[in-house]
Amino acid sequence: MSDLPIANNQMRTTQIVQIRTESPSVKTFIFTDRLCSKAKPGQFLMLWIPGIDEIPLSIMDTSNSLVSVTVKAVGDATRHLHDMVPGATIGIRGPFGNDFTESRGRVLLIGGGTGTAPLLFLAKRLALKTDHLVFVEGAKTANELLFINEVAGICQEKNIITTTEDGTAGLQCLVTQPLASLLEKENFNMIYVCGPEVMVKKIFEMTEARKLPIEASLERLMRCGIGLCGSCVIGKYRVCRDGPVFNTIQLREMKDELGISKIGFDGSRIPF
Ligand SMILES: Cc1cc2nc3c(=O)[nH]c(=O)nc-3n(C[C@H](O)[C@H](O)[C@H](O)COP(=O)(O)OP(=O)(O)OC[C@H]3O[C@@H](n4cnc5c(N)ncnc54)[C@H](O)[C@@H]3O)c2cc1C
Ligand code: FES
Repeated sequence: MSDLPIANNQMRTTQIVQIRTESPSVKTFIFTDRLCSKAKPGQFLMLWIPGIDEIPLSIMDTSNSLVSVTVKAVGDATRHLHDMVPGATIGIRGPFGNDFTESRGRVLLIGGGTGTAPLLFLAKRLALKTDHLVFVEGAKTANELLFINEVAGICQEKNIITTTEDGTAGLQCLVTQPLASLLEKENFNMIYVCGPEVMVKKIFEMTEARKLPIEASLERLMRCGIGLCGSCVIGKYRVCRDGPVFNTIQLREMKDELGISKIGFDGSRIPF
């Protein structure tokens, strides 16, 4: 296993300090945790909902000893978390995994759904060192576009592109559509992506065709979070230990599996 400090894997209990509603299905939870408050953009934590389950979540912000995660209610654990109130007890392990490299120069960030959260964390850091920051964000519908005001506080308006599948805000298309012309027009030193794996795959193919560098954060089913159980495997990598951020060379190595299938908790292969 990697040089993960043992303390990171020890569960700490803490209380939710604040909850913010971001959209009808997404909330941000803020709590104190000394170790995770030192996390870097791209890293994740395992959040335990007592009596229910433990789930992986990207760290979306840190400030002093406070940590934020942004969570979409999709199933049992995330719905129970959404029902919790400030003061409720949760368990935390982490931070786990690697982080995005902080590139200089001209940078493009592409977020789909809650994938926007870790990219916002990254954008805040990059804003201090890059010349040019472009943010592309896609969602199914207008009220699922996350952190629009926060992104506007970092990027110039002309450098923000939003898309919705139903056309209720921004361009009516998938997030990948405006990228083709953007990549023709502009040159980027680094492209950062976080979102559904099928979206990551499509964007990876676009960057490969243009020989552009990319770092993508992947999501797979996770249990242990520290490289032991194998549930998050993709190609020769374990997303929890070797990722969740993968670079161009690593994505090339896993391209036959990327966006095609993942391992289920029972060990079977599930197509996307
Ligand atoms: C490294 C990492 C970072 C993540 N960061 C975030 C985040 O910042 N915000 C957020 O809302 N979610 C994030 N997820 C996904 C989150 O962990 C799952 O949505 C959650 O575990 C679902 O649990 P559940 O019991 O509510 O849903 P389940 O009842 O387990 O599943 C409900 C639905 O969600 C799907 N699902 C379950 N687990 C995952 C998963 N790991 N990835 C994608 N889909 C899944 C299932 O296939 C099913 O369709 C992240 C996942 C990983 C691996
Ligand atoms: S979650 Fe167990 S090996 Fe990655």
